[in-house]
Amino acid sequence: MGADMTTFGVHESTLSELFAEAALGAYDDAGVGPDEIDALYFGNAMGGQTENDTHLAPAVASQVGLAGVPCQRYEDACATSANAFKNAVEAVEAGIHDTVLVGGVERCTPETGLGTGEMTRIFASASDRHYEQPTGLTFPGVFALLTKRHMHEHGTTEEQLAHVAVKNHANGTRNPNAHFGKETTVEEVLDSPIVADPFHLMDCCPFSDGASAVIVTSDDRADSFDDPVDVSGVGHATDVVPLSAKPVPHATQAARDAAAQAYEQAGTSADEMAFAEVHDCFTGAEVMASEAIGFFEDGEGGPAAAEGRSSMDGDRPINPSGGLKAKGHPIGATGTAQIVELAEQLRGDTGERQIDGAEKAVAHNLGGDAATTVVSVMEVRG
Ligand code: COA
Repeated sequence: MGADMTTFGVHESTLSELFAEAALGAYDDAGVGPDEIDALYFGNAMGGQTENDTHLAPAVASQVGLAGVPCQRYEDACATSANAFKNAVEAVEAGIHDTVLVGGVERCTPETGLGTGEMTRIFASASDRHYEQPTGLTFPGVFALLTKRHMHEHGTTEEQLAHVAVKNHANGTRNPNAHFGKETTVEEVLDSPIVADPFHLMDCCPFSDGASAVIVTSDDRADSFDDPVDVSGVGHATDVVPLSAKPVPHATQAARDAAAQAYEQAGTSADEMAFAEVHDCFTGAEVMASEAIGFFEDGEGGPAAAEGRSSMDGDRPINPSGGLKAKGHPIGATGTAQIVELAEQLRGDTGERQIDGAEKAVAHNLGGDAATTVVSVMEVRG
């Protein structure tokens, strides 16, 4: 596998240029050239709405030396590039392609000419068109509702949520690609303005620009790549839409189903994971994800964050990259950026944020009303 990402934050490049930066980095990382790539599986969720830029896959292919190869664009809200990754892994396993470049790109900051209000409206197009959008519900509200239910059922507190933000900002200071490189405190989080109760500004991920790319290849060919790592399971599940129809909303059932598939394919379990990268678009989302992927029992996710169990030196580290909260969330790039973090950690290449001795790890990426989830398990090459 080759793996690389741009910094997440503010970029002035076009979507194609930004993706090319990550893709060329992935070629270098793997020690392969474009003539060795058979297909491009490309993720972008919102380019049509944000920049009137659609049918991007062939345009991007031309930028990265892949004109002529089969390529397609994936859109799955915030799970866009994880779903592209899943399809690439399946295509390689099925023998359809030998080597696939897969990744994603998004531009969400005011550099697009759009501010927080308009970007929030565009993101909300990934919620239910008939029952949610007419009410004015946007994504901070979607995850606030799920988190409120979790608080009601399990006694999770705003202070426990704040500990998730504090941890992920601390981790982000050790990641040169992170959008935010500054620490925060529980007091700062709780004193920041309310966005959607129970979330304060500092409980939310930011709008970010960025791209990420990985190269997936067959087992036979992997050893000709520099520093390969193994993909041992990729699960993918969907949940009921709209939110109001979910039987147990805060359980995020799709994540449970996708995690069960991924662990089963990999012949492993949550207990063997050295760490997780999870989709912490809001602090409450990390708490729910940490339970859904089996790192903590139901209801333990909040207390575990407050006790430091999910910190770098805890027994179940979560989001050593800084997560979406501090690393940033250019939505179409987020899924494969998690895969980049897993690859670099499993190679022991992440410097001061390294989880020592990591041999297996899991990534959880969700899209929409927690409606689509992809969970991937990777390990040191056996
Ligand atoms: N976390 C930490 N700091 C943040 C931040 C965040 N999420 N968002 C903005 N900031 C900082 C800015 O850097 C800026 O700092 P400065 O004054 O030192 O320069 C300050 O807060 C104000 O930034 P601004 O962009 O004006 O904030 P805003 O009020 O317009 O937007 C949010 C803040 C939280 C509302 C916005 O980031 C948001 O909606 N995030 C959620 C995105 C989302 O829904 N993604 C989809 C998830 S499913």
